[in-house]
This record gives sequence, C-alpha cells and structure tokens, in this order.
Amino acid sequence: MEGEIRMSNVLLIGTHWGDEGKGKIVDVLSENAQGCVRFQGGHNAGHTLVINDVKTILHLIPSGILRNNVKSIIGNGVVISLEALQTEIKDLMKNKISVENKLFISQSCHVILPTHVALDIAREKSLGKSSIGTTGRGIGPTYEDKVARRGIRIIDFFDTNILKKKLSISMEYHNFLLKKYYHADTLSIDDTFDKLLPIFENIKHHVCDVVPLILDLNKNSNIIFEGAQGTMLDIDHGTYPYVTSSNTTLSGFISGTGIGVDKAHYSLGITKAYSTRVGHGPFPSELHDQLGLDIAKWGGEVGATTGRARRCGWLDLKILKQSIELNRINGIALTKLDVLDNLEKIKICIDYDPINYENFKASNIQYIEMDGWMTSTVGITNFNDLPNNAKEYISTIEKISGTKVVMISTGPSRHQIIILEDIFKHQ
Ligand code: IMP
Repeated sequence: MEGEIRMSNVLLIGTHWGDEGKGKIVDVLSENAQGCVRFQGGHNAGHTLVINDVKTILHLIPSGILRNNVKSIIGNGVVISLEALQTEIKDLMKNKISVENKLFISQSCHVILPTHVALDIAREKSLGKSSIGTTGRGIGPTYEDKVARRGIRIIDFFDTNILKKKLSISMEYHNFLLKKYYHADTLSIDDTFDKLLPIFENIKHHVCDVVPLILDLNKNSNIIFEGAQGTMLDIDHGTYPYVTSSNTTLSGFISGTGIGVDKAHYSLGITKAYSTRVGHGPFPSELHDQLGLDIAKWGGEVGATTGRARRCGWLDLKILKQSIELNRINGIALTKLDVLDNLEKIKICIDYDPINYENFKASNIQYIEMDGWMTSTVGITNFNDLPNNAKEYISTIEKISGTKVVMISTGPSRHQIIILEDIFKHQ
C-alpha cells in the first residue's frame, strides 16, 4: 500500500549446539532495530559482546540492551532467576548501561527457585557418568514445574499471600525430593521468600504484559528475536536427552513470545565456521586430538556461563541442513571465520549414519577436505578482500546447504563483519 511503513523482523537461531556467536550478530543488527526479544532459556545462555574493547557477558537480558535505541523484552518462554537478573542489571550499570525504560519482562515468565538449582545439581550428581552436563542453573527443574502446572510465575509475586502459598506447595515438594530421593540438603521456604521478594520489589516496574508492547512496537519498528542455545539442544529436535529443556528452534519463538509466526519475516541461522559443544552428548565431527585443543585456544572456546572448555570439531553440514529445514532459515551468518586462519587443511563434515543411541556415536562419518587460506582474515569488512580459499570455503557451505551466507564475522568486535545483504528489507 502506498505510504505504508512496513517493518521487518529477524529471528536469530543457533544452528548447532549454541555458542555460535549470536550476541555479536544481535548487537550488529540492533543498530537498525528498535526491539530485541528473548523467547526461551534462562541464564544458562551466555552472550559475549565486545564494544570499544569492553567485554560484556549477558546471560538473561537480550543483547539489544547495549544500544540506547532498543527496547529489550523478555518473553514468556524464558525462565528467570531473580538473583541472576539483579546481578546482570548491576553489572550493566557498572558499565554505565541503564536498563530503565529499556527492559520489559513478561509477567508470565516462570521463576527459578533455589530448590530448582539444588535439584539440578543433585540430579546431575546422581546420574554420574550419564549426566547431561547441565549448566547447573536450575533450568530443567523449572521447566518441569511449568509443565507440571506447579510453577511460580513473576505475576505471582505481586500478591504476597499467593506467593507464600505457591512457594510452600512448590518447595515442600522440592525439599521432599532433595531429602528423600537425593539425600541432599533442603532449603528454607521462609528464607527464600525473604530473599526473593526484595529483589522482585526492585525489578517489578519492568514486569508487564509484553505481547501488546511487542505488537505496538512493531507498528513502526524492526524487531530482533534472539534465540538462546542452539538447534541441537532443542528438547524435541536435539540430541535428546543431551539437550536443554526448552524449544530452541522456530517453535520456541512462537510459544515463547505469544505473537504469530508470520511476524518472523526472516530467519537468520547463526553458524560458527567450525562446530563446538559444551556439556555431554553426541558430537559426530568432534576433534579428539591436539587440533581440537588448538581451535579451542584460537577461538577462546570457554563457556561464557560455566567457564567449561568447549569441545571443538569440524563444521557439521548435516546438522546445518536439518537446522535450515527446522527453522525455515533464509540466510546464514557465518561467525568466527578468522579462527580457521592458521589451518593448512580444513574439513567439512557432510554426512554420517544415524547416531547410535546406545553409545551416542556416529559411524561412517564423511568429510570433504579443502585447502586453508593461511593468512589473516581478522577485521576484514569487504567480501572481495577475503582470500580465495576462504571464499571457496564459504561457497562450499552455500552449495551444500542450499542457503546463502549473508553475513561473515571476522573478529569479536562490532565492526569486524562483512554484511552481504540488508536482511531487514524482507517482509
Ligand atoms: P541446561 O540448559 O543447563 O539444562 O543444560 C543442558 C545442556 O545444554 C548442557 O549440555 C549445557 O551445556 C547445554 N547448554 C545450555 N545452555 C547453553 C548455552 O547457552 N550454550 C551452549 N550450551 C548450553
């Protein structure tokens, strides 16, 4: 229609096991967006951003918070630790970043209780060798309670009588499990109430019904929907049971925001130039040798949340193809290309037999091998300046995945990026 302003939204999804570098891409895109929405996960996520040499790690608050022009919104699908939220707000303030009038939290978010954390840790301990390798943040038990209809939502904190009642029901059950089943310490319901309520009082002005806010904002603003973790950690479509407890894929965007799928105009897959995984579970293209350790060192592959070393391997294109289907991905942002600068030979994993769920191993793993570029790509902003072998690597990914690479990240900072397409032009 003539004269009509048409706004465009981008959905960002990690195509593998998380840690693809979504935070940086959100930061780059948010220059042209006015809203940034998270829709699942909790403070198990870790988004590292480097702006003017200052490093900020965000776990819960959307990465758009670093821009003054952006409203950061936490959708109903996210589980919230009030303590972690408070710490993150304080840390941002230390870096002179205010959240006032910029941070909005859905009243329907479920709250992570200290007993959820205790249960997460006790369960992992009891699983021994077959533990999931969770972040120990209470994510799984909180989502369990949500589905079991005994969860506590932020909205419950507005009425202390309701809160007291719900806290008792929930924590008595948790304490029973902790004591009788896991032989672990229990936690005081009164202490929890006394600890969480003042934190809520400090942040309650951020809590609202975010759906009308998102819809209203979208009348004249671009919005980024920021996924956490990655496709292979999706509770339904990932490498179950070595997954997180939410839908990290397109379906999580729908249920975790309350707005329609038609609002995701462009789905951007965030793919690291090699693959990594933190925690346990199958990883067919994993490198078990010194090269895996070298890539981890060059790429700084240490978990932003837990400080655990990430497992590294060759880029898995079989998974990328699955991700593209599952998330209706329109284009790929390829991150950390520069980490491969030193390699003489680079492999890409293209196929393997279905993963054996007895031993979680894949067999008949097939690779293609290419010559590396052996020169620095750090900070390159123009595609034509890339070495030919790097261009070849990118075009091989495009050919096999059938999807265009639209952004290439060549370093941790905001400006170290090649942008090949204005993705906000899509509707
Ligand atoms: P949980 O989400 O803490 O329950 O952990 C379940 C699995 O997801 C574990 O393997 C974690 O290492 C992994 N995980 C959770 N959050 C992230 C993330 O942000 N990046 C990468 N892996 C994650």
